[in-house]
Order: sequence, then structure tokens, then C-alpha cells
Amino acid sequence: MKRTNYVGRTSEKQIGQEVVLKGWVASRRSFGGLIFIDLRDREGIVQLVFDEKKYPEAFKVANEVRNEYIIEVRGVVRKRAEVNPDMETGTIEVEVEEANQLATSMTPPFSVKDDTEANEEMRLKYRFIDLRRPKMMKYLKLRSKMTSIVHRYFDNHDFLDVETPDLTRSTPEGARDFLVPSRTYPGHFYALPQSPQLFKQLLMAAGVDRYYQMARCFRDEDLRGDRQPEFTQIDMEMSFASAEEIQETTEGLIKMMMKEIKGIDIKTPFPRMKWQYAMDKYGTDKPDTRFEMLIEDLTDLFKNSSFKLFANEANQERHFVRAICVPQGAEKYSRKDLEEKEEYIKRYHAKGLAWVKVGANGYTGTIADQISDQAEEINKRLGAHEGDLIIFVAGSFQVVCDSLGWIRRKIGHEMHMMNKDQWNYMWLVDWPMFEYDEGWGRWIAAHHPFTMLNPEDLHYLNDGEDPHKAHAQSYDIILNGQEIGGGSIRVHDPKIQEKIFKALGYSKEEANTRFGFLIKGLEYGMPPEGGLAFGFDRWVLMLAHANSIRDVVPFPKNSKGIEPMTAAPGTVSQGQLDELHIAVNKNTGHVNPKD
Ligand code: AMO
Repeated sequence: MKRTNYVGRTSEKQIGQEVVLKGWVASRRSFGGLIFIDLRDREGIVQLVFDEKKYPEAFKVANEVRNEYIIEVRGVVRKRAEVNPDMETGTIEVEVEEANQLATSMTPPFSVKDDTEANEEMRLKYRFIDLRRPKMMKYLKLRSKMTSIVHRYFDNHDFLDVETPDLTRSTPEGARDFLVPSRTYPGHFYALPQSPQLFKQLLMAAGVDRYYQMARCFRDEDLRGDRQPEFTQIDMEMSFASAEEIQETTEGLIKMMMKEIKGIDIKTPFPRMKWQYAMDKYGTDKPDTRFEMLIEDLTDLFKNSSFKLFANEANQERHFVRAICVPQGAEKYSRKDLEEKEEYIKRYHAKGLAWVKVGANGYTGTIADQISDQAEEINKRLGAHEGDLIIFVAGSFQVVCDSLGWIRRKIGHEMHMMNKDQWNYMWLVDWPMFEYDEGWGRWIAAHHPFTMLNPEDLHYLNDGEDPHKAHAQSYDIILNGQEIGGGSIRVHDPKIQEKIFKALGYSKEEANTRFGFLIKGLEYGMPPEGGLAFGFDRWVLMLAHANSIRDVVPFPKNSKGIEPMTAAPGTVSQGQLDELHIAVNKNTGHVNPKD
């Protein structure tokens, strides 16, 4: 039997015609001499009718099958007596004349429907069943369509699709590397690329001029909701292009994507916001501009205040007293709610959260009496009115930004301030070149070490100046409060690159060992150039309105870095370890290179 069409594409146009369909039994209902089966394939579901009197052989097959068995059927499409408005093919059904069972199935561990009762662990373990659910299939299709748009767009704009290696040397994107031991060179390791960054720069040295690739990246980092250890970038690089030209090219792709996927005309150019403004007003470098509730600075009001808690902070270098005003938040938020928020922001090292409610006769709340002198000015700056809630945090720049930034987002969600069908793309620009990493205890490149400084800041790299004041020609693309991509103009002058390595604390030798091949590239004719990479999975996640990045990655790792279906990572045989000259410490499970 040769299939005539996908099950889900059976349509009213085929009424009276014979069709051959193949798919999975989604459900089966028996009424004496009649059996109804909902047949499913990747395109959808159609109802089959088996009539014992008319087609006893086909009826026998229908009688034996169970959910998730695979069958093929031949029959005629007809109008349904009773329309099912919840089904896309709800106006038709297929009367089956001939049927064959193609595969049996054990009882599935969970039912194949969108509102499944199964937890994520179970869904990941039986991912091939999970992916049969219509919602998951929709995500796979969206991802595939977005991939094809990416290829079409770059192909139309003279970009070459060039592959770069997965077995390579460590690349510096700030995470830990996944390592692959070499069998031929004992004690030596390949690293999986955190991104193709250095290769794409060297492709510019090679004269490729415009490169793109759907690139797989690997980063061994703590997994949060929007991260995977293995993820896909839309990676691109352009020679002789300014930051504006790279941004324009990126906007073109986004415009095309939004038109073809969502049918929306997105306005370009996107708004640009400076890093400092984003931090001051939104408390984050990925601002969600779909709602206001901006952070206001009140530090100057408390320098001479008798309210010691705020005065102490206000008088310290780079410490601040800042606040947000929650419109009509006074009634919604109880003392207990606010205490919970206070508890949460302790992870950002906030000492506390202070609040007042704005009433007809002034403030009420934890610090109402202590700040009554400043009340008028505070209300003016925050635009606060009766019924509003004002939340204050005092502390270092980072503490205040992290805390108020989180509170703003959290309350924004709780008070439904974001419209999920609004698409606020924007560029975040004018980043600091370096940032201090508390975890590593040293200065790191805010983007990466190959990012070019703003030309007017180059002098900060000279001896005796403070390089950490410099700003970079880097840019992030932000969508509704998520960083979906980032890029920069690169250094193409080896002397400047050397100074940046020095500012990052690399000795000349260290820089040569790690990035010697890039430095050579710079020394043999590197064009001025720059580029950008999208986090493709994150973009799909957002356009799909999915709940988690794991829903739009076909075979993802769980939050503990495990892939439950194959149970990776797993142990390997002693023989494999011996070949790799690796010994495992039996007590700790630690792997050490054998001497
Ligand atoms: P960056 O490190 O900013 O830049 O990465 C680019 C984008 O990739 C996404 N991303 C991730 N997505 C899922 N899981 C992860 N673990 C993860 N980490 C990052 C983010 C991010 O914006 N080579 C540079 C780009 C360049 O300069 O051209 C780079 O990799 O959406």
C-alpha cells in the first residue's frame, strides 16, 4: 500500500476519494460492530471508522490493535455525521476497507497528549514517545523552519556556510571546557568548542569575507532554565563591516524571521540602549522594555539623613539607595510577600528590602517614619500616588542592580505587565570591556578577549592607566528581557591584542600557548572585521512560547547535565580507559591521566 498523504493532511477536499494512510493509534473506541480509531502522524490526527458488517477483515485488525500500535489503512474519506470542533480534521472521517498492523507497542509509560501527566524525567527518558505529542512536534517543525530561513537569508546575502572543527583546542567563552582525551598522544586532550569564535576570525584572515554556520557549542557550566551544555548558535562574521552594518544584517534576519514565522512586520532599526542606562534603570544588562516600573536613584536624598541605614550606604563610594514604585501595589502585596522577596534577594548579598505603601495620609510600612522628610521628593521622582507600593534597596552598585532588577521582573510577571505577543528587540551597546568576576577572583573580558575597544578608550591600555575603565565595541541583541545573541568588532591589530591579554593578566607565553594560532592570524594580514552569534535554541524557545529550553532541543540534557534516554554520561570499559591512558580513581570516581 503506497501512502497517499499524511494522516493530518487529510482534508474535506478528498471527500469521496480513496486514501492510504499510515500512522500510530492515538485512541480506540469500540461500539459493538463499529470501532473508531484516531490515527496520528506528525501532521495531525484523523478519525477512522471500521464497520464489522461491511469490512470484517479490516474490523478484525482494528479489534486487535492498542494505543501506539502502527497500522496502514485504505479507505474512503467521507463527511462526518457529527462534527468535532476540537479536531482540525473534525469534519471528516475515513471509512476503512483494508487494514494491516505494521508494529505493536507496549503500553506507553504516559499517554501521548499535550497535557500529559508525565514528569519531565519520564518524558526525557522516553523522548521518542514525548516527541509524538502534537505540541512537541510543533516545536520540532518550528525549529526546522527557522533553520531553513537562516540558511536562505545568509545565502541571499553572500555568506559562505563554512564548518569548523568540534575536536579542537580550548576557546575562551568563559565556561569550563568539555575535554576529549587523545588516544595517540597520552595525556593530551582535545576541547570541544565553546563557540567557533577563533576559527571564524581566522576565516576572515583567509579571505572568506562573510561566514555563517549553524554551529554546535559546548560549555560545561551551571545549568539554568535557558542554558544547555550543548547548544546551537547562528554564528556569523563579516570583514570590512562596521558595528552598524553587522547590526543591520542581523536586523534583516530578524525581520525576515518574524514575518515568515509570526506574520509580523518588525520595525527596524531596533532601539539602542547603553549598558550603563540599562543597569541604572532596569537593574540588568538584558532589560525587558515591555513594561515601565523603572528604577530611580535616591542616593543624594539620604547623604545627610538621620536614617542611618540609608545614610551609611549613600555615603560610600559607588553605593546607592534606589527604588521602584509598583503602581497600585499596596493592596496586592502583604508584609509576608515582601519578606519572601527580601529572603530571595539575599542571594545577591542584599542586606534587606525596605518598603512603604503610599496612603492618603503619607507612608505606612517598615521605614515610613524614617523617610517622611524625603517623602515628597521620593514620590515626585518615582511618580508615586496613593495606593502604590515603593520598594527600596541600598548597597553596592551590583547588589542594588541585581536585587531591584530581579524584583522588577518578578513583580512584572506577578502583575501581568508583559504582553507575550509583543516583541521588543533591542541592542544593548557600550559595554565595559572588562568585568570583575567574583567566582574566578580576577578581571575577565565582559564579551571576550578579541573584542575591540571604543577607539577613544584605547589609551586606557597604556602603561600607568586603568584598562578597566575602557568600553568595548560589543553589542547584545535582547528580546523581551532575554539575551538572544551577542557580538563585537574584533581586534585586528596584534599590538592591541597583546595589550588586552596583558590587561587580563595573561603572560606573553601564556597568551602564545593558548591563542598563538590567532596571534599568527593577526600578524599575517587580518582585515578589520566583526560578527555576532545568536543563541538559536533561546530564540526558538521564545518564538515557540515554550516553557523551557529543553522543550525546543530534540534530545536535551536535564538540569543535572544528564541525558536520561541514553543515560549519558556513562562509564566506559577498562579496555577503553587503557587505550586512552586514563586511570579512574575508584574511591572518588575521578579520572586522572595515567603516568
Ligand atoms: P556568547 O557567549 O554571548 O557569544 O554566545 C552567544 C549566544 O549564545 C547563547 N548561549 C546559550 N544558549 C544556550 N545554552 C547556553 N549554555 C548558552 N550560552 C550562550 C546566548 C548568547 O547570547 N563567540 C561569541 C559571539 C561573537 O562574538 O560573535 C559568543 O559565543 O543567547
